[in-house]
Amino acid sequence: MTGACVVGCRRIAKRFGHVDALREANTAVGAGKVVALVGDNGAGKSTLMKTLLGINRPDRGEVIIDDRPVQLHSIRDAQALGVEAVHQDLALAPQLSVVDNMFLGHEIASRGLGVLARDEMADRAAKALAELSIQLPSLTVPIRELSGGQRQAVAVARAVMWARTAVLMDEPTSALGARQSEIIVDLIRAVAARGLGVLVVSHDLPRILQAADTVTVLWRGETVLDAPASDLTVPDLVATMVGYRKDGAA
Ligand SMILES: Nc1ncnc2c1ncn2[C@@H]1O[C@H](COP(=O)(O)OP(=O)(O)O)[C@@H](O)[C@H]1O
Ligand SMILES: [Mg+2]
Repeated sequence: MTGACVVGCRRIAKRFGHVDALREANTAVGAGKVVALVGDNGAGKSTLMKTLLGINRPDRGEVIIDDRPVQLHSIRDAQALGVEAVHQDLALAPQLSVVDNMFLGHEIASRGLGVLARDEMADRAAKALAELSIQLPSLTVPIRELSGGQRQAVAVARAVMWARTAVLMDEPTSALGARQSEIIVDLIRAVAARGLGVLVVSHDLPRILQAADTVTVLWRGETVLDAPASDLTVPDLVATMVGYRKDGAA
């Protein structure tokens, strides 16, 4: 890839016991770009995401943030460099309000606002949602009263509110119907349009091929394809994901 790499990695390897989860993983996300990370079950997508977030420590290779190799020891290190995540389980607290959830996981950063700053928190949350054109019935209702798509949107808005360089998303549409998936895919483009890099893990190949600038394919822990989405078709991707490589290599 040409230009700046806001988040990426070079030649990452990660072994769990005798499982090689990652053998040679490479990817690079530019500012304002969407990279789709695809691969069969067990290919290492979640492991790679966790490595880019400092949740997993790689055995070998480099994580790159803002064009520099970095050593991440925890997710706090990634957050300090402006990288935020939308996890597969969303990590939302169902009993808490939308506003409280927008600040969840950032208690230290938000403590400066003080206990009396409820209005300020509500304003910031409302602004963050409005900037992504996310409409919700209310910001004071508990998250559990929202639909799956609305919860997903809140999780994305929270990540964007705190991110300065990139947002990583693991399977953001896997639990959603077609209409809600469309909305989330539009939201992914809106996040990139704000100048953030977006790395998104997805099995929804037709939709993700439309939304992504670049596709990274992992096969058994190895990056076997890293190409512009416009050059690829769904059958190409499926063939690559199951291990049939276009260049004929085994
Ligand atoms: N914490 C762990 N301990 C042991 N094995 C793991 C762990 N995390 C992932 N794996 C293994 O690593 C491989 C890649 O897993 P994962 O990254 O979850 O793949 P994907 O997200 O592409 O489905 C799988 O074989 C999985 O069982
Ligand atoms: Mg996974």
